[in-house]
Amino acid sequence: MTEDNRKKKFPHKHLLGIEGLEPPSINYLINLSQQFVDELKLSSNKLSFLKNKTCINLFFENSTRTRTSFELAGKKLGADILNISLGSSSIKKGETLIDTAMTLNAMQPNIIVVRHNDAGAVKLLSEKVNCSVINAGDGPHEHPTQALLDALTILRRKKTISGLKVAICGDILHSRVARSNIHLLNTLGAEVRVIAPATLIPNHIENMGVKIFYNMKMGLKEVDIIIMLRLQLERMSGSYVPSIREYFRFYGLDREKLKFAKSDALILHPGPMNRGVEIDSELADDIDRSAIFEQVQMGVAVRMACLKALLE
Ligand code: CP
Repeated sequence: MTEDNRKKKFPHKHLLGIEGLEPPSINYLINLSQQFVDELKLSSNKLSFLKNKTCINLFFENSTRTRTSFELAGKKLGADILNISLGSSSIKKGETLIDTAMTLNAMQPNIIVVRHNDAGAVKLLSEKVNCSVINAGDGPHEHPTQALLDALTILRRKKTISGLKVAICGDILHSRVARSNIHLLNTLGAEVRVIAPATLIPNHIENMGVKIFYNMKMGLKEVDIIIMLRLQLERMSGSYVPSIREYFRFYGLDREKLKFAKSDALILHPGPMNRGVEIDSELADDIDRSAIFEQVQMGVAVRMACLKALLE
């Protein structure tokens, strides 16, 4: 493959967000992810695309799904993986993000996957290192690989994204998943709605091309996809909802509210879930309606695609 062809496939050094990514780049990552889903079904053998490459997972915030699936993805591609988390790093001794980045850079990794609690921190780090950087979630800003795996899950079930009505419900204010999904779904031609109490809707979100609903039943009317979000209590100072009980009554997804969506509407949730807060527990486990564990499965293939696209 010529250098020109490579550039056409995914012409970016880093994956810092979905905002600004052009449809061919998004489609390239989704198609490559689908190829990895098929490949993983056929064989559990390790691939060698990233043999002799080093990936560092640098997580300043907790994670189950994203960190482990990046680790698994890297291993399946034959890379050497280093995992560094806040608790075990010298950040605990006062080292800054930039000094940490420069220290890791000196070890000459090929890629660093970063999660940080501040919006913009991953971009800042990418400007200080020589290797590629993937944003694994930066504060309330973006979580691009989550949006890609959500899109892959939707495509596998609905065959298209263009023309679908998608409702994103819950704590939109603090959600990087909502922002990345809004960018991606709008770019691929979906109609996106956000549903939440006024306290959990960011100012000017309508400028991102979404319709705002404060009433769950009205917002869910005739939608194809429902993406439920967790209340991010760790990012809240003060009270945003009167009580958890009241929140579930008005904004928790249960069978009664689900009736307002299309009869084949699919439920997604990026996890971690708070059962009985934003979603009824029995509904979350209903494999005819919910694709929550399929999303996790798609996460490995999507992260394989992102690692390969940036390193090939
Ligand atoms: N969806 C998501 O980012 O989950 P984790 O926090 O477990 O990585």
